[in-house]
Amino acid sequence: MAKPKVLVSHPNVPEAGLRLLQQECEVVVVQEASRDVILAAVAGVDAIFWCCKVRLDSQIIDAAGPGLKAVATMSAGYDHIDAAHLKARGIPLGNTPRVLDNAVADTAIALVLSVARRLQEGRHALERGTWVTGCPQAMLGVDVAGSTVGIVGLGGIGQAVAKRLKVFDVAKLQYCGHNPKPEAAALGAEFVSFDKLVDTSDIIVAACPSTPETRHLFNAQVFKRMKRSAILINVGRGDCIDQEALVEALKTKEIWGAGLDVMCPEPLPVDHPLIKLDNCVLFPHVGSATVGTRSAMATLAAKNILCALNDKPMLAEVK
Ligand code: DGY
Repeated sequence: MAKPKVLVSHPNVPEAGLRLLQQECEVVVVQEASRDVILAAVAGVDAIFWCCKVRLDSQIIDAAGPGLKAVATMSAGYDHIDAAHLKARGIPLGNTPRVLDNAVADTAIALVLSVARRLQEGRHALERGTWVTGCPQAMLGVDVAGSTVGIVGLGGIGQAVAKRLKVFDVAKLQYCGHNPKPEAAALGAEFVSFDKLVDTSDIIVAACPSTPETRHLFNAQVFKRMKRSAILINVGRGDCIDQEALVEALKTKEIWGAGLDVMCPEPLPVDHPLIKLDNCVLFPHVGSATVGTRSAMATLAAKNILCALNDKPMLAEVK
């Protein structure tokens, strides 16, 4: 019997995932992760392993043909995939939650410390020869210990962030979301409204997905409500923040600073005003970018496909 055919949408996928797929499937890896190349290669595949920035839309899904049985994205987020179209066609969509929680949370902590302690500004001072020595009031940051931390979205990543921040001796952990989470008790985190979180937190970490509800959740009104000493971190999706409003809030020191691993668009244009601000630390969406985590993500995505092709539930299926 012919092996099922799987399209892999990027030429540079961690070996672990590829090897798993190759044990049971004919694997077609595109030479280039472009829409045209993918469209030319997708006809007749049984499954799609999605791992690129091209939007997996209804045209590509339908170009696969009637035999398409499964799609797995090598990411936790799936805002780049037409999940509604897959659902309408009865095709399961797998993603890779949990395996990236620790790596993304580490990134959030790196951003918190960089912004709180003005590390980027300090580095710039070194480079520009403006390093002031001996002044007791130079380069003062804000303390993480004793602070109130607000986490927007206490999913796996939010919980991993909370766990890490607890050992920095923060005074209080609070979170908001649709509903209280059972895991919050062990973390000592209190469920509060978004408004209360914004009004009272010293450090806010956004770890939420991109949905119509979270789009521009952080906007000019919200920045006005935040403490002037507040720090905003985003490791979820870029569109949760109205970036124009953030530029204004950072320029006018309405808030202390921001640290972003996700932006809109990605890559951010090199002349974007956020890049010029000393109180804004930007990472190029590296939250899950460790050797081990990307390998685990590729493995889980491959297993999701193999489960579906063997008529079993995926290990992580988007509901
Ligand atoms: C995800 O998996 O959604 C991450 O943002 C990718 O790094």
